[in-house]
Amino acid sequence: MKFFVDTADTEEIRDLAATGLVDGVTTNPSLVAKSGRKFLDVVQEICGIVDGPVSAEVTATDHETMLKEGKKLAGLAPNIAVKVPLTPDGLKTCKALSDAGTMVNVTLCFSPGQAILAAKAGATFISPFVGRLDDISTDGMQLIADICQIYNQYEQFETEVLVASIRHPIHLTEAAKMGADVATLPPGVLRQLYKHPLTDAGLAAFLADWEKTGQSILDD
Ligand code: E4P
Repeated sequence: MKFFVDTADTEEIRDLAATGLVDGVTTNPSLVAKSGRKFLDVVQEICGIVDGPVSAEVTATDHETMLKEGKKLAGLAPNIAVKVPLTPDGLKTCKALSDAGTMVNVTLCFSPGQAILAAKAGATFISPFVGRLDDISTDGMQLIADICQIYNQYEQFETEVLVASIRHPIHLTEAAKMGADVATLPPGVLRQLYKHPLTDAGLAAFLADWEKTGQSILDD
């Protein structure tokens, strides 16, 4: 399973990339606004930090302008995945860009039917939003299960399931059990994954006992 980080904060990305666990980055207009920086600058900087796909979202809503924006974004770096919304114009743009060899991430997916359309449009990634479905009392993880099941029926669907809008580690582990290809994690959720109180307590006990031996691995 690939881990992307869901942020436009380059300091966070640098810090997490140093773990060696980050396979890519996703951004969206809200995350760029939160960064307070110029979109093209921030995306270009992120592409220099990670080698894997960096999602950068178009902001036009008509096909012609989306395509122009997508081409401009794709020209910034070879690892850009142009993000388009799951609308008729977005999918038309997805098809044109993917036919031209550009990676495309289709975002704002909330139903299995939408995911089928994105796969048929040649999307590299489909981004179903689990947290936002949970927020409206709908089971977000069921959507992931449905999409994984459907995509597995058809060899010609090469679209990767990129689980988005993750709010906690259980979203991630459930997605992994379902065989989702990618999870995009807010930095806080990625850090939470390391945590277990028994790990902390166990390490403290081991170190206390080691101290009693008076030994040092490097000096002995
Ligand atoms: C990622 O591509 C999505 O834009 C993001 O995961 C949405 O997350 P949110 O629902 O927490 O805003």
